[in-house]
Amino acid sequence: MSGKETPGTGTVDTATKKVFVKTYGCQMNVYDSQRMTDALAADGYCATDVIEDADLVLLNTCHIREKAAEKVYSELGRIRQLKEERAKDGRETLIGVSGCVAQAEGREILRRAPAVDLVIGPQTYHRLPAVVKRARGGEKIVETEYAIEDKFAHLPHPEGRIVRSRGVTAFLTVQEGCDKFCTFCVVPYTRGAEVSRPVSQIVAEAERLAASGVREVTLLGQNVNAWHGEGADGREWGLGELLFRLAEIPGIDRLRYTTSHPRDMDDALIAAHRDLDKLMPYLHLPVQAGSDRILKAMNRRHTAKEYLRLIERIRAARPDIAMSGDFIVGFPGETEEDFAETMRLVRAVGYAQAFSFKYSPRPGTPGADMADHVPEAVKGERLQRLQALLTEQQRDFARSLVGTEIDLLLEKPGREAGQLVGRSPWLQPVIVDDAAGRIGDIVKVRITRAGPNSLFADPVGEIGAPGCAEATKGVYV
Ligand code: 5AD
Ligand code: SF4
Repeated sequence: MSGKETPGTGTVDTATKKVFVKTYGCQMNVYDSQRMTDALAADGYCATDVIEDADLVLLNTCHIREKAAEKVYSELGRIRQLKEERAKDGRETLIGVSGCVAQAEGREILRRAPAVDLVIGPQTYHRLPAVVKRARGGEKIVETEYAIEDKFAHLPHPEGRIVRSRGVTAFLTVQEGCDKFCTFCVVPYTRGAEVSRPVSQIVAEAERLAASGVREVTLLGQNVNAWHGEGADGREWGLGELLFRLAEIPGIDRLRYTTSHPRDMDDALIAAHRDLDKLMPYLHLPVQAGSDRILKAMNRRHTAKEYLRLIERIRAARPDIAMSGDFIVGFPGETEEDFAETMRLVRAVGYAQAFSFKYSPRPGTPGADMADHVPEAVKGERLQRLQALLTEQQRDFARSLVGTEIDLLLEKPGREAGQLVGRSPWLQPVIVDDAAGRIGDIVKVRITRAGPNSLFADPVGEIGAPGCAEATKGVYV
């Protein structure tokens, strides 16, 4: 869920114009970068992983936490030099900024970084080819208003070979934006109001992915479990019903979804965890804090007890579910006793995975204007204590899996020769000998050892159905 940077999104290298996309932030940005690359491909741009070769450099940015904008400005300084170098050889380079920093900063980006040619928000990137065309004509463009038309309906579909080169697992955005307005969070301002994609569009996209050899689909949304839409039966569906429908698609063997809000965890979704074998037993359900006073100040709209009760219900439906969460320490007004309640909640849940952050005031959010900001040193010290506990829980969870047999989807080559890597149902990376099968196979393995960040396993029994060998080619993001 957080802060990693992913250079490049594609593999093909033959056309005259090339685009380099650098992705910051969450999986939704990874998905958006792929779709922007697809949109540009239809216009003759091929993706490259070599920035020096790029005729268009696009930074797909994230604004969720600290100094994100400053990082983008310093990266833009480096890219400006590259642009000047290429200009000496008579080669034009366009620089674009997309994503949440583009949305939040808008025209300010052109003022502070005049080498930038185009700024495009997350709601309008289907217009990217047209914007690039204008920018090539010398115009400076800021395109950050919310589009009225359906972005997804206007985006071209990637070719099968491009999908294949991205691997046997894929992201699929089903919902965007957020209406929750947690007081620390910039998302409702940068990504706008909650919008759900229609069932038919989602099913068609999942079918196309399956036809290209994808076996695992992760549904994405800022508030993915708030997804709703009219079902094939004419009834209003929630995410639970959608998951049942997607599970019917031949070739799709595994489903996941992220990120969820506790308030939107309805009975149908819990039933999906109970009844749907293809739905992996992993749930990222951020709570942010364990003190009711702080939860209220954060506008989370639930108490610690309600969250714990919800997890009890989910565990009753799917006892082996791995819980994951996000936490913020040092929200304005957080006392040592409030923080102790976060630690208590973490002990009560037992997380298999978690992401924790120091509160960082986001301009324009209510939290930024609250009184009693917590000193940085206190935030740092609390974060250390919380992370020590979460790391211990993560390690205990991984160790508890040693000796169990699981179905493993082989996803990509490992770091060392002779290895393949997949993910356990609970999302940890699992490393096996490459004799276990081919990429795209689902194989039975027994977990033999838990390392700090991954599990190790040996194959057992028969190798599963053949998968997509072509997917070994290409760059994985
Ligand atoms: N400060 C620190 N962490 C934040 N997050 C969101 N906004 C902030 C902020 N202002 C964290 C939350 C969220 C995750 C994606 O990022 O934990 O769930
Ligand atoms: Fe941000 Fe809260 Fe919406 Fe999540 S639910 S995107 S934290 S406002």
